[in-house]
Amino acid sequence: MIKILVVDDEQLLRDRLKGLLELEDYEVCLAESGLKGLEVFNEKKPDIIVSDIKMPGMDGIQMLEKIKALGSDVEVIMLTGHGGIETAIQALKIGAFDYMNKPVNFDELCVNITRAIEAQKMRQQLKSQQSQLLQAAKLNAVGELGAGVAHEMNQPLMAIASHLEVLLMNDVILQDAALKTKILKIKDQFARLGTIVKRMHEYSGSRKEGFIQEDVNRPITDGLYLMSQQLKDHNIELTLELEKDLPVVHIDRYQIQDVIINFLVNARDAVDERHSQKEGGHIWLMSKKMKNGKGIIAGVIDNGIPVKSGSEDSIFNPFFTTKAPGKGTGLGLSVSYNIMKSHKGVIGFTALKNDRKLFYCVLPIDKNTNLTIDPALNEELKSEWETL
Ligand SMILES: Nc1ncnc2c1ncn2[C@@H]1O[C@H](COP(=O)(O)OP(=O)(O)OP(=O)(O)O)[C@@H](O)[C@H]1O
Ligand SMILES: [Mg+2]
Repeated sequence: MIKILVVDDEQLLRDRLKGLLELEDYEVCLAESGLKGLEVFNEKKPDIIVSDIKMPGMDGIQMLEKIKALGSDVEVIMLTGHGGIETAIQALKIGAFDYMNKPVNFDELCVNITRAIEAQKMRQQLKSQQSQLLQAAKLNAVGELGAGVAHEMNQPLMAIASHLEVLLMNDVILQDAALKTKILKIKDQFARLGTIVKRMHEYSGSRKEGFIQEDVNRPITDGLYLMSQQLKDHNIELTLELEKDLPVVHIDRYQIQDVIINFLVNARDAVDERHSQKEGGHIWLMSKKMKNGKGIIAGVIDNGIPVKSGSEDSIFNPFFTTKAPGKGTGLGLSVSYNIMKSHKGVIGFTALKNDRKLFYCVLPIDKNTNLTIDPALNEELKSEWETL
């Protein structure tokens, strides 16, 4: 329900507006001064404020200034007495949505409130679109840079690899245990470097096997096959919920397999971090057709540690990791993000009940349609899988 805060020092007006606005199905809170208005604003977080300008103590303008300084999204409609045009203009300059003359015409006020709500909604939508675009642009730039760097690194890496092999066959070194251990350590780190370069290649989309019409369950079961021994070793229970006879989709099945493996590895790590190896860890792997018939969803649920609070917006960024040094490269989800982009699909995650979370990707059934992130999708996924 939309919340409106009415600030006015005249009790009669406050009460009248409250009664009328409640009849229009708004939730209404009241304050009798600017200072009190600020207090109620902080506590109730209203969507809209209707405020008198002239009030004893802190007036409406001062209150407006303070609220706008907080960077709040709230829209403020100011009420002015006769001759208050200058202050009304000042209010608009500070960021008020509109002003109205007293005595208040209630119908006009309602129209203004509706306009303010719409403006607020548009601004919020724009903000979220902008941040999605910014994210995509950022990932593109890093992808191009990464592809270049990864390519340049291939040659020196190959050279180092062959020098290391030569060293490890050298008699002097083979007889010096300490030296040999050191070289083996270099080799380990070198292998890690190789993995990072390979993933940067994948990230920039250079590892493409070609698109075919395929059942998503195929790369899912292939990915699981590669991971199943690991899940057993980590004592993680697995539940498979794959919908049968799914419509085929246009995919590069090795890339989709990579996405599933990335999800499974992350779920394994999250489970390991919460549970002892002996008990408790559970991973669900599933596929299903979306209710609206537009896409196929593949997802992994785990009951491991939650996504670290505050990192929700960063986990798809390249090189973002919360794992111990040497453990994660932070590329798994950004590689997967790019793969889904090239499939015209979407990738995301949502928290479920009982401390579980779902990482999912959705592939379009019609290969010519771009899927977009849709708030209804999270709700559908939640209602479908919340009860597992
Ligand atoms: N299932 C999950 N549960 C909790 N946190 C997760 C999960 N999946 C991803 N994350 C968070 O997202 C971060 C980024 O994941 P991503 O797969 O991109 O990188 P990584 O796993 O850290 O390293 P890499 O996959 O390159 O080895 C992780 O470090 C972790 O904080
Ligand atoms: Mg990962």
